[in-house]
Amino acid sequence: MTTKKNEIGKAFIEIDNAKYELPLYKPNVGPNVVDISKLYAQANVFTYDPGFTSTANCSSTITYIDGENGILLYRGYKIEDLVENADFLEVSYLLLNGELPNIKEKNDFVNAITYHSMLHEQMTRFYAGFRRDAHPMAITCGVIGALSAFYHDSTDINDPQQRMIASRRLIAKMPTIAAMAYKYSLGQPFVYPKNDLGYASNFMHMCFSFPTEDYKINKILADALDKVFILHADHEQNASTSTVRLAGSSGANPFACIAAGVASLWGPAHGGANEAALNMLEEIGTADNITKYIKKAKDSNDPFRLMGFGHRVYKSYDPRAKIMQKTCHEVLDALSLRDDPLLKVAMELEKIALEDPYFIEKKLYPNVDFYSGIILRALGFPKDMFTVLFALARTVGWISQWKEMIEDSEQRIGRPRQLYMGNVDKKFINLEDR
Ligand code: SDX
Repeated sequence: MTTKKNEIGKAFIEIDNAKYELPLYKPNVGPNVVDISKLYAQANVFTYDPGFTSTANCSSTITYIDGENGILLYRGYKIEDLVENADFLEVSYLLLNGELPNIKEKNDFVNAITYHSMLHEQMTRFYAGFRRDAHPMAITCGVIGALSAFYHDSTDINDPQQRMIASRRLIAKMPTIAAMAYKYSLGQPFVYPKNDLGYASNFMHMCFSFPTEDYKINKILADALDKVFILHADHEQNASTSTVRLAGSSGANPFACIAAGVASLWGPAHGGANEAALNMLEEIGTADNITKYIKKAKDSNDPFRLMGFGHRVYKSYDPRAKIMQKTCHEVLDALSLRDDPLLKVAMELEKIALEDPYFIEKKLYPNVDFYSGIILRALGFPKDMFTVLFALARTVGWISQWKEMIEDSEQRIGRPRQLYMGNVDKKFINLEDR
């Protein structure tokens, strides 16, 4: 597939009295893009953009974010419409294939995922190599990487059939791997997936059921978890997705690339923020402590930040946080936990922060991680499983972006340059003379 671009003119840059012209592209929506890919060859200069705040690393048709207006589209569909009208596997099909499935396409896809949900039995022995108190993200990262040791028949990235099989295996097996990490941490037996359960219900069954008794799925809670998965499914070129793309650009197999994405997501500034946000709410404890923590968050000498607040792209309310807050109320109502003290602290913290000039001026709003922890805790998951659930849901986004990159004729191995400020021309001194 060739990269879609719409050149509308030129941008000009003048260096040492020499003028260079650079192609200017107009996207279907969003800011125009200056193509600097030939700048080094033409002008012998690099551009400098740590954190990539102004840099597009690819052309994509998967997800669009309008940070100023709080808009999130998956393949052009509003996240609000998808959460309201579709389920996670339907959205997964959309992200992977570019269009919503018809009835037959959906049934075929659901069957393909359902009948790939078991792990090679020998993989269960990997878990025994971890301490029982290992963080489930460490286990998940390790086991995902190990998939390439078992599924050799879907690691040839140049074979579309193998790419499709690897994508489906990852989406299908991630819940099983995550649930096994949770059961292992409890010292409880692994629970196999059941083919008559939906994606979210099956995950709850594998996490919360016991071989000794029947487990009754609570449909309201399973539907809420399915929505949480949809909200986390993809998010343009965030840190973990960019990690997957960069790993994939070297030709690494898809399992290794997704393991790299899991590792990047784990950071507290990224996917680890949901666990960190709940820790923060528990540390604040009650509403009368909020002012003290807001003060800490505003103090540039204090490393404390309001976890679940702020975003590189959203300079308005994260649309996912709005839906997450609504889902939070639904779950707590269903569980008669309406008076959950942490929800009260979260709501009061949000109210105070959004009225504070510091947060208003810096355009800091709740993000996807602010309410998700309260929901996941209410559903029965421990904090150290929150980022695992984020990784579970984001796997389809990662693999869709990986697939788009592999199929993009313009993509080459990612190899950024640098602004070198180190020593030059040092004279070697023998050890005895130093
Ligand atoms: C996710 O990229 C994605 O799309 C990620 C994600 C996805 O779906 O993949 O959306 C998921 O990772 C959401 C973000 C979760 N992280 C957190 O909630 C951690 C807390 N937030 C921050 O660490 C921060 O807001 C980031 C990392 C999210 C964004 O950081 P940026 O864009 O680099 O912004 P910045 O750190 O330069 O902050 C700008 C200013 C700074 O003040 P000054 O240096 O200008 O004086 O705002 C301040 C920051 O100190 N600031 C905060 C703050 N976040 C930013 N101050 C207090 N509390 C915060 N949470």
